[in-house]
Amino acid sequence: MFNALTTATTKPPVWSSYTAEILWADNHIAQQMLAFHLNPEVGLASRSFAFVDASVDWLVSELGLDSRSQTIDFGCGPGLYTQRLKAKGIGTVVGLDFSKNSLNYASQQAQLAQLDIEYHLGNYLDYHDTRQFDLISLIMCDFCALNPSQRATLLSKFKTLLAPDGVIALDVYTQSRFDKQTESTTLAKNAMNGFWSEQDYWCIQSAFNYTAELVTLDRYVISQTDRQWEVYNWLQHFTLEMLQHELAAQGLEIRAKYSDLCGAPFAPNDEMAVLIGHKAL
Ligand SMILES: C[S@@+](CC[C@H](N)C(=O)[O-])C[C@H]1O[C@@H](n2cnc3c(N)ncnc32)[C@H](O)[C@@H]1O
Repeated sequence: MFNALTTATTKPPVWSSYTAEILWADNHIAQQMLAFHLNPEVGLASRSFAFVDASVDWLVSELGLDSRSQTIDFGCGPGLYTQRLKAKGIGTVVGLDFSKNSLNYASQQAQLAQLDIEYHLGNYLDYHDTRQFDLISLIMCDFCALNPSQRATLLSKFKTLLAPDGVIALDVYTQSRFDKQTESTTLAKNAMNGFWSEQDYWCIQSAFNYTAELVTLDRYVISQTDRQWEVYNWLQHFTLEMLQHELAAQGLEIRAKYSDLCGAPFAPNDEMAVLIGHKAL
């Protein structure tokens, strides 16, 4: 028992494991996540519907998007942004996600509303397309869940997919959020109201901070009668300089910074949002 608990609560090396697909693609967990996405009161998987409405309105007017524009949303989930973009008459709207459950929902909604939206199921790190887009979006701080080499891969993909005057819109967690995080370990039966499984389980949850890297980890070790499995939820937090540095390495630069993707003025906060373009020569 001592050894098992020690192993389950040890702080692993930073970015040592990537389990995002379990979180988003496991059938039971995917259903729980979809319910979170679609609950306008809960800001856990998506933001409130009022926020999404305001965000799409702002992006369309700020970027002058219209029936000739091409947009692509990385990690589109149930299509909250893609659906609204297409309903506003945007020409080409593409959504990418590896959650089958969320994409099924998104496609059904598009069909019901007779909106011609293109959805692709798969890992967006492997996505290829020869088109160039006026707007590439990655919303709800999903960039923060990727390790440094995945972020470099994604940004270089964005670089080739971005039209000459196109814009990448993304939001990230900041150092101010990191500074508030505390380390802890808890044990609970059927933790988070049965979120992890329909069957009984014990969950050991450990929260770790990696101060030098501004990374946090929520490590979940889930023990059931027949198996034990783990989920690692890493989050990179950024200073403006860190983000600028990662973008510059891929020939990209920040055009404008905000507090959120509704265009709220930039202020020191737990999140920030940026509009990114090709780096000027
Ligand atoms: C926090 S949710 C945000 C969803 C949506 N952007 C929103 O704000 O409503 C992240 C989404 O990204 C998807 N996702 C995460 N990593 C992915 C990857 N590597 N490839 C494809 N989809 C991914 C998840 O399935 C999930 O739907």
